[in-house]
Amino acid sequence: MEVLTIRVGNDNFSYLIIEGNRASLVDPGVDPDEALVLIKKRDLKLDHVIATHHHDDHTHSIQDVVDRTGAFVIASEQCSSLMGGVDRIVKEGDLIRLGGLKIEVMETPGHTEGGICLIVGNTYLITGDTLFMGDCGRCDLPGGSLSEMFSSLQRLKQLDDRLVVFPGHDYGPEPYDTLKNQMRTSGVLLASSLSEFSRL
Ligand SMILES: [Fe+2]
Repeated sequence: MEVLTIRVGNDNFSYLIIEGNRASLVDPGVDPDEALVLIKKRDLKLDHVIATHHHDDHTHSIQDVVDRTGAFVIASEQCSSLMGGVDRIVKEGDLIRLGGLKIEVMETPGHTEGGICLIVGNTYLITGDTLFMGDCGRCDLPGGSLSEMFSSLQRLKQLDDRLVVFPGHDYGPEPYDTLKNQMRTSGVLLASSLSEFSRL
């Protein structure tokens, strides 16, 4: 298994998960060309496109990817109702299979209703706009909720801290880090109560 990071748009990260000759593309963003070139160059079959949430900077090119590859679109129910064109709806605990690889779905609302994180092969944690390096996604957009974000972050803290966090934006200082390091250093993960979290 391999996960390739592709920078798209201003500062979005898209992820190409590869298992054998099959691939899954997470959040292709505004421009899928680099991902599609990689897929072609490595002679991969794109099984699915997964949206962590419906925001346009993550999902804009999904239809283009589908038209060019025939990939299946996977998203949560709320995300599906907001953006349409979804072939498979996933919920908490569901497994997305890519060849022999398992990608587990976690529902992590807070930035948006229906936002999800993906645990890839017990190694990587793709967090969309739920968790960034040293920060979390904003909660003041439609469908956002500070208390749901706090709950989602508490659930991420229960995961295996050796997971490597792959965020949805390049908000630095590093593009990725272990969950363990982020739990030691990130204020949004160190906050122990909703009132403390809401003061950040
Ligand atoms: Fe977003």
